[in-house]
Amino acid sequence: MKVVILISGRGSNMRALLEADLPVEFACVISNRAEAKGLEIAAAHGVPTGVLKHRDYPDRAAYDTALAAEIDRHEPDLVILAGFMRVLSDAFVLHYERRLINIHPALLPAFPGLDTHERALAAGVKLHGCTVHFVTPVVDAGPILVQAAVPVLPDDTPASLAARVLEQEHRIYPMAMRWFAEGRVIWREDGRVFVRGGTNATCAVLVSPSPDIA
Ligand code: GRF
Repeated sequence: MKVVILISGRGSNMRALLEADLPVEFACVISNRAEAKGLEIAAAHGVPTGVLKHRDYPDRAAYDTALAAEIDRHEPDLVILAGFMRVLSDAFVLHYERRLINIHPALLPAFPGLDTHERALAAGVKLHGCTVHFVTPVVDAGPILVQAAVPVLPDDTPASLAARVLEQEHRIYPMAMRWFAEGRVIWREDGRVFVRGGTNATCAVLVSPSPDIA
């Protein structure tokens, strides 16, 4: 299975994927920003990199057309958004229907968009987390593949909460890609996505605050 990863910055999720020993070929990592730290990480892992700056194009449609052309040179089975900080046009998203995946730092459909950790703290939720989902034209609303929940603690700051969530992002993104590579991802007719041979029988329940509080 051939995979293209799109990034804009740090690239820690990309790194988790590259280091997960997955049965896939990473054909290319493409960034819209030349200064993205993730580009160095990809190169250090021997993965070809490319930069396509959105500022070089007059509008979103022109950029997305050029980006798709660059991606399609590699004939990927899967396109991974790993901190790619751009809204994608409908045409782009539909071109990669069912093979475009994103990770979002919240338990969707709660907190779509930006500043998720600040908003989770402000809302007073006791569970927060991250979501791997297929991308559809509505931002952060596509079918969910896997989620991880973490507790929100009384002393959390956006940074401490982000770090707890990020640790789980690095767990579930490689899991999701492995399922995809193994052909175990099932789209049901009702639009919900499941994993064949999943762990439904051993689902964990997370209660926060802990019921063990004295
Ligand atoms: C992650 O929190 C991811 O969920 C969000 O953007 C951030 C990217 O971080 N989409 P990194 O570049 O993978 O370190």
